[in-house]
Formats: sequence, structure tokens, C-alpha cells
Amino acid sequence: MENINYSLCWEDYDLVLNSLSISERDTILCIASGGENLFSIALKNPKKIIGIDYNEAQIHLVKLKIAAIQTLNFYVFVNFFGFIRCNNRLYLFKKCSSRLDNDSKRFWLDNLDKIGRGIVHCGKLEKYLGVYRAFFLRLFLSSKKINRFLSSKGIDEQRRFYNQELNNLLWRLSFKLFFSQRIMQLLGRQKEFFQYNKKKNISDYFLIKTEKYMKNISVQNNPFIHIILKGTVPIPLQGHPYLDKSNFNKLKKIVGKIILIEDDISDYIKKMKKYTFTKYCLSDIFESVSQDEYEEIIKEIANKSRSGSVICYWNNLVKRNVHTKTNNFIRLDIDPTKNADRVFFYSDFIVEKLMKKS
Ligand SMILES: C[S@@+](CC[C@H](N)C(=O)[O-])C[C@H]1O[C@@H](n2cnc3c(N)ncnc32)[C@H](O)[C@@H]1O
Repeated sequence: MENINYSLCWEDYDLVLNSLSISERDTILCIASGGENLFSIALKNPKKIIGIDYNEAQIHLVKLKIAAIQTLNFYVFVNFFGFIRCNNRLYLFKKCSSRLDNDSKRFWLDNLDKIGRGIVHCGKLEKYLGVYRAFFLRLFLSSKKINRFLSSKGIDEQRRFYNQELNNLLWRLSFKLFFSQRIMQLLGRQKEFFQYNKKKNISDYFLIKTEKYMKNISVQNNPFIHIILKGTVPIPLQGHPYLDKSNFNKLKKIVGKIILIEDDISDYIKKMKKYTFTKYCLSDIFESVSQDEYEEIIKEIANKSRSGSVICYWNNLVKRNVHTKTNNFIRLDIDPTKNADRVFFYSDFIVEKLMKKS
């Protein structure tokens, strides 16, 4: 079985909610990944929500997150997940495991080490970022300085910090070494996500994107930057799908609604009945398929959906944002001043509405 690649979902849940405008009438298909986007969508109480992932391990991860949300109280849950130090995670797992199906229980019993360390740290990408933090970043940035940066009181202060403390040779060198394609595909990201990449120097590309974000957009309330730099976030965390206490308590009641399916989305869409879904959250799945395959999936969604249906997805290194064979989707503008992508390394966020002639 493949391992867990993402123990957290690295896609901005606020962008998803702002672009999909989910109501109680909606039926949603969403890539499962680490589950956070599923949870933020579930909080809008849609009629139906399906999480899909072709990696069985991701499905087991989301099932355990759901069981923990249903079983534990807020602060115990935060400890269990690994946002705060805790030494009784195996006992807490026992409490949650009665809610798991046999396959998931077996998966986790074979992976108790991941539970012991806190499940939000067990993904390939999260471990990779952990190595960067422990062995590179700490060489030139103490945790005291990281805390100072993350509590910057405005862009000027943030920019000053970046120029004086971060923008040095070690920072740039560490980026070059650690975020090169070779190291990334070995330690951080699945190989297939690079097969259509044409960018020659991705470490420079990521450095430019990181620098632009850090110098222009507030890091204070960006949970993704907190995790990259510190491995955790301040808790409770306002607006987060489950680290905000009020969302957690609401989610407890409705999280059982999420149905999880292990399948390739293109196979699933071919099999699904017409008009099953009104909204689709598609992560950046098109990065790992050819332009033709991307166009086929979009065509199939258009064939199987009613006019007014909305899809959203990201591009990272690979451009997959134009599909000429299906022209009944119109791209919706999203206001970049209100919707800065807090996961700053993506190159595009695409929201499209299906407009069929009646
Ligand atoms: C697309 S990946 C996220 C990649 C991340 N944003 C990045 O750029 O490295 C998110 C999840 O999508 C799943 N996934 C990718 N392609 C899929 C497909 N065709 N069908 C179902 N799940 C898919 C992966 O297993 C993973 O858990």
C-alpha cells in the first residue's frame, strides 16, 4: 500500500469556501487528501459530501481524523493530532478506534508509530518540511526569531525582518539544495507530479514565490506558514475547519456525513450517474495527467453536471488551466485582494461555472 503523502491538506480552505459558495442544497465531490477541505465544506452542511482519493492511506487518515473529531473533546483532540506535545496518543487512539472500519483499524494498528508522533506529522510532505526545519532553517533562524516574524504587526515589519534576518546566503542556499526537483521528488512529493513539469529550476521558482508572499502578505494569521516554520499553529485558531473551537464543536455533529471513496477520480466520474454533484473541489490533480487527460476529465464533468455547477482546482508547476475541447465552462474572477492564496506556492487557482444552453 502507498504511504500517506499528505497528513494535512496544503490547499487554502478559505479559497475553497469563497469560490464554491456552498449551500445546504449542494452535493459536493472533493479530493480527500489530508481532509481539511472536506471538513471546511462539511461545516456548510451541504446535502451530500463525498471525499475521494486513489491513495487508500489518505482515506484511512481522513477516517481516523473523523473518528477523533467525533470521540474526543477539543483540547484532547489537538494533542492527539500532534499540534501539542502529548504522551498518551496510543490510549486516545484506542478510544477512537471503535468508530473505524476493520480495514482502517488494521492500517492504523500497523502504523502505531505514526499515531505516537501525532498524525499531522506523518505525511511524506510534512516529514520533508520537518527535516528542512530541523536541519536547515534552525542553522540560521532561532525559534525566538521565527516567533518574532510570525507575530509581525504589519507588512513593513515583516519586510524588514525578511530583508535583515532571512534573505541571506544560507537561506537562499538551503532553498536551492532542499527544494530542488531531485530532492523534492525523492523526499517530499510524488514523482508523478513532476512528469509534466517544464520549469527548469524549481527551487528558484519556489524561492521567488515564497519571498513575494513573505514581503507582501501578512504571515501572522497564515496557518500554512506557521506549520512550515514551526511545525504547529497557535491554538485555538480562528476560522480553521477544526482548530477553531466553535467549528470543532459544530463539526462533531455533522462530520459523519462525509462519505469516503477510494478511487481514481476520472474512473469515478465515468461511472457516476448524471447530476450527482453540483460542486467539485479538485485539488491540483491535473498536474499529474497529460493535457488530453485533463481535458477528458473536464469534458466528463461537463457531461455529467447541470448548468450552474462549479469546479475549482489549483495549478502548481504544471499549467492546466485551459481546456479548449470543453467550452461551456466560464472562468469566474476571484478578487485577489480578498482571496490571496495563503498556500503561496501555487501558480493559479481556477474557478469555473458550467453554462449549458437550455
Ligand atoms: C493532488 S494531491 C496534492 C498535491 C499537492 N497540492 C502538491 O502540489 O504537491 C492531493 C491528493 O490527491 C490525490 N489524487 C491525485 N490524483 C488523484 C486522482 N486522479 N484521483 C483521486 N485522487 C487523486 C492524492 O492521492 C493526494 O492525496
